[in-house]
Amino acid sequence: MESIIGLCKRRGFIFASSEIYGGYNGFFDYGPLGVELRNNIKNIWWRDMVQRRDDIVGLDSSIIMHPDIWKASGHVDGFSDPMVDCKESKLRYRADQLFVYPVMLEGASAGYIAVIEGTDLNTRIKQAKKLRDSLGNKQAKLDESQLDRDAVEITELDEAQRAITLGPDANTVGTLTEPREFKLMFETKVGPLADQSAVAYLRPETAQGIFANYKNIVDTGRVKIPFGIAQIGKAFRNEITPRNFIFRSREFEQMEIEYFISPDADWKTLHREWLDTCINWLESIGIPKDQVSEDVHAEDKLAFYSQATTDLMFEFPHGKQELWGIACRSDYDLGQHQKHSGKSMEIFDEAQKKKYIPHVIEPSLGVDRTLLAVLTTAYDEDEIPNDKGAVEKRTVLRFSPKIAPYKAAIFPLVKNKPELVEIAEKLYRKLQKRWNVFYDASGAIGRRYRRQDEIGTPYGITVDFDTLEKDGTVTLRDRDTTQQRRMSEEALIEYLEEQIDA
Ligand code: GAP
Repeated sequence: MESIIGLCKRRGFIFASSEIYGGYNGFFDYGPLGVELRNNIKNIWWRDMVQRRDDIVGLDSSIIMHPDIWKASGHVDGFSDPMVDCKESKLRYRADQLFVYPVMLEGASAGYIAVIEGTDLNTRIKQAKKLRDSLGNKQAKLDESQLDRDAVEITELDEAQRAITLGPDANTVGTLTEPREFKLMFETKVGPLADQSAVAYLRPETAQGIFANYKNIVDTGRVKIPFGIAQIGKAFRNEITPRNFIFRSREFEQMEIEYFISPDADWKTLHREWLDTCINWLESIGIPKDQVSEDVHAEDKLAFYSQATTDLMFEFPHGKQELWGIACRSDYDLGQHQKHSGKSMEIFDEAQKKKYIPHVIEPSLGVDRTLLAVLTTAYDEDEIPNDKGAVEKRTVLRFSPKIAPYKAAIFPLVKNKPELVEIAEKLYRKLQKRWNVFYDASGAIGRRYRRQDEIGTPYGITVDFDTLEKDGTVTLRDRDTTQQRRMSEEALIEYLEEQIDA
């Protein structure tokens, strides 16, 4: 993760928000290369999920909506996480991410340490020693094997046990509070009044904008069951512990589909089909199938309205975590909006000759998490020969040409030969009309290639003396293999088309 974060900052992919003021936890800014990568991911998703399908239409709803929407959806009452405060460090932790290990000194129980999920054994041993020292028992023998066993969640501890627990950032025991519900929706005020009646929310998911517009689209869009409504947009959650770079942030972007089906449909088969569609889509942007696994939510842990939920999990640098959630939400949301708005959410199904509130399958994906998964898959370090033949280390982002920020870089071999520069500039202007390409005339050619490798540009195109003096061909250098071959301009454009636009 450190290497990815370093590269993202160094090369202008992602910056901490408000960095000149010390940063702002949970918020990020996308720089020139980041915004290209992000837009490519969104555009390909939109193209594949909306424009290339006959059964899905698009939507762009407002971020702030009538507050009653969030009452109907259950977010006002229920969208919260249990959290634990530390009275000493003043830090706040998500209860489901705080894990507890028993500390045994001289064979007897001495208390507990609470650590954040994913903390390594060495850190746990350090914490246990801290607890031992805080008890004034520095010489006591610590049983380290206890710290390598299965931990329990902090929610499983009673008051007496919490009183002898050392928090992750505390120096004394007993500073952690019992878990308390913490609201995740950001509130704001709309209009001139400052009282409760003016309270509105920044949407925590784009999905409710879709449900709130479902009636409009059914009435105007000539859609028929089964059909989907897709939306890409910002969502906001006051996450208690935003972390792991852009994995869990407070402002992020979602790409969501609500796919409406008949209540009599074989939803299990449709759910499976959606899972396969999503896995195939990830593969198409360069995330291999073997890096994606499925986490089927246990039936007894499902939300009361959910028939089934399966998360597509990805091996992020900080561990295997949810990338894409695919849920069967029944008719819960439309039913709630019918009840709260008083407007019918029924559709007349011509094929079945009956009216009903449709059920829904919801594939919900985060743009930022996809970007992190793409960066994780693409990041590589290898060794290649430099201009003088000596082997050098290089950092390379092996992006699929479809999503790479720059598709190709165009170089005149030398910058002091105006005829070469003229051909290179002309080719650059021509390619720029179709794709985002880069022009670089300065520095040794090997170094120019390396600069592009580091930002994931799949192709380097060099205009050299043979171009000028022989047949007009240019060299195309492949980022991954570093192989070079000569090509005519037509062959080059045909090749780029196949690789980028397919
Ligand atoms: N409408 C359903 C819904 O919002 P979710 O599992 O809470 O479900 C869907 O979110 C997706 O949004 C997740 O799989 C993840 O990719 C992304 N996501 C959720 N919270 C996020 C956060 N705090 N930061 C970045 N991405 C997030």
